Amino acid sequence: MATRKPAQKGARAGTAPRLRALETAKEESDAVGRARVLVVDDDERNLLAIRTVVEEVADVVVASSGEEALRHLLKGEFAVILLDVFMPGMDGYETAQIIRSREQTKSIPIVFLSAVNKEDQHLMRGYSMGAVDYVFKPVEPVVLRSKVAVFVDLFDKTREIRRKAAQEQALLDENLRANAERLRIEKELRRAQQRQAAIIESLPIVLYLEPLDAHPRLPVFVGGNFEGITGYRYEQVKDHPSLWEERLHEEDRERVLAALAQRRHTGTFSVEYRWCCAGGEYKHFLDQAVLLRDAAGKSVEFAGTLLDVTDRKLLENQLIHSQKMDAIGKLTGGIAHDFNNLLAAILGGLGLIEKRVPLEDEHKKLLTMTKHAAQQGSELVTRLLAFARKQQLEPAPIKISHLSVAVSELMAHTLGGLVKLEWAPNKNLWTAFADEAQLELALMNLIINARDAMPDGGTIRVSGENGELRPGNKLGLEPGDYVVLTVADEGDGIPAEILEQVMEPFFTTKEIGKGTGLGLSMVYGFAQQSGGAVQIESEVGKGTKVEIWLPRAPLAPEPRRDSAREDQPHHAGKLRILLVDDHLGVRATTAGMLADMGHQVTEANDGHELLALLAKQPDAYDLVISDYAMPLVSGAEVIRQARELRPGLPGIIITGYADVHSIARRPDDVVVLTKPFTPDQLARAIGSIGIGVAPAPAPAQAEPSR
Ligand SMILES: Nc1ncnc2c1ncn2[C@@H]1O[C@H](COP(=O)(O)OP(=O)(O)OP(=O)(O)O)[C@@H](O)[C@H]1O
Ligand SMILES: [Mg+2]
Repeated sequence: MATRKPAQKGARAGTAPRLRALETAKEESDAVGRARVLVVDDDERNLLAIRTVVEEVADVVVASSGEEALRHLLKGEFAVILLDVFMPGMDGYETAQIIRSREQTKSIPIVFLSAVNKEDQHLMRGYSMGAVDYVFKPVEPVVLRSKVAVFVDLFDKTREIRRKAAQEQALLDENLRANAERLRIEKELRRAQQRQAAIIESLPIVLYLEPLDAHPRLPVFVGGNFEGITGYRYEQVKDHPSLWEERLHEEDRERVLAALAQRRHTGTFSVEYRWCCAGGEYKHFLDQAVLLRDAAGKSVEFAGTLLDVTDRKLLENQLIHSQKMDAIGKLTGGIAHDFNNLLAAILGGLGLIEKRVPLEDEHKKLLTMTKHAAQQGSELVTRLLAFARKQQLEPAPIKISHLSVAVSELMAHTLGGLVKLEWAPNKNLWTAFADEAQLELALMNLIINARDAMPDGGTIRVSGENGELRPGNKLGLEPGDYVVLTVADEGDGIPAEILEQVMEPFFTTKEIGKGTGLGLSMVYGFAQQSGGAVQIESEVGKGTKVEIWLPRAPLAPEPRRDSAREDQPHHAGKLRILLVDDHLGVRATTAGMLADMGHQVTEANDGHELLALLAKQPDAYDLVISDYAMPLVSGAEVIRQARELRPGLPGIIITGYADVHSIARRPDDVVVLTKPFTPDQLARAIGSIGIGVAPAPAPAQAEPSR
């Protein structure tokens, strides 16, 4: 066995068979030594004599019997066998017969050696046994050598032909294998290229190569989904080289061209811009390129990518918009809270003047006008609070079919003859969960907007669909079931550039005095506060569609407030009331209203003072009325602590700035009254508590109403 050279150990798996085939061919050629001749004779002298003669032309292997000859034949090849005919044991004929019968040895020429039997029949027997020649003893050296030389020559030539054939076969095999390997690699390469192309095609990206100083800018190579992203074929761009520059957004052009001019110096380029695609829509592209240099460091060209970042940009804009709305909401909420307190004081004060001071008709008129203005201010503040998501909501299950009747009736006079209102809620529409009065108001705002957008008339369609949202939805809502109410019109539409602003408070395109710009703000704030959202789609000249998404009502109906209690008489007697409000004006007017009703009022500046009063005489009071938002202790907390001093003490929270969630955590039997309120509303709130005690008459702090 030939041993491998160490260097071949590291050969790759694929190359190993190839090397082996070549090695085999080489081993065979290395094995070509002198031909061997097998001489078989039982007579030692004959063997010696023949060896001497034959050794000149071949190596000689001797055997003194047929059996020994057969053993030698098992071990290797021979050019010719010189076989004595007469031997003890197995004679030459028998030996020849066996040699001929074996596959391995059947074609080795046999020359019989015979001292006797020159008769024809013996010769014929020898030939029939497979002899190719006869040599008679004593052998003539020259004759024997030349005969043997002929067979040796024949053997050598045969061996040479076989060796060459083996080498050729090995080369052929190697060639075939190399071809197959090449085809396999080519196939793999093609598949890898196809995969790469498929990946790049499916990404929102274009790869390009661009000459250093092309004016106008024109790539020499473009890869990726160019047509899918831009809507143009590359050939179209080549035929119209100024296309890229022409379709840049007007507001971005200067900045982009300046960055482009700089890239030769900086070697890089990265700029975002809007570009008008073949379909006429603008996409946001992130265009980035780097300078490629050759081996000598010379600048060659720019290699770059054009990435469609429209979706990301949209999300960014949405985020910025919602942050802006949030900030405006906080600001508005704060201002509305302060205004609410002022209006509460003004309205309360006006109410007291009206009751306590005898006025002449002219002054009464003035007072009524002032009250009316203050009430309008109060409505405005309510809408602001709605936008700021600070209004007090009473969410409950709402059947939209019931709502449609109520809203249609309310809108009947407002719409005028030219505008038709159609309701088309889905028959199996789920029940929504929201504040019904506020939803009515929101729908009315949307319907009035739709009417205003159709001065020449048209149809307003209000529809309702069930909507399911998955996690990560674009509305940013919790996943789950929603009821989607849509108000669609065929009006003027909203231009894209103001679409983002329409929900901001005070944004209006209507004439002064016609719109306050608070309608959509209210809808927005209401939907958000209800755990839903608003979506607007609009196309100029075609119309507008506003969707309100509201959560679906839980399947078990929410317990509603005990209506029996609301029907109770307004108040059950004269009460001893502890009142706290940190706003002096509101507190004074509220105290005035209570006194006018005949109640005995004790005022406190803040929660601590109220609790201290109660601690001194826990049984001296029948009711606590507390403002909600106070600096030290909230209204809900005041009532909770008051009840530790006097279990079951009835309470009313008055609020202008109701964080509905905190208020929602109030004990069930605490009534919430929204500022500003009239004396009547205050009396009703006290009545709804249903306090049955009739306290001992106490001196009123103020004059009873006249
Ligand atoms: N359906 C609509 N079609 C066209 N434009 C609309 C539509 N709805 C709202 N808008 C635009 O949005 C602006 C803001 O609407 P919003 O309802 O908030 O205020 P407003 O209607 O102007 O005033 P307000 O509702 O307070 O009386 C409108 O002035 C109008 O330009
Ligand atoms: Mg409006």
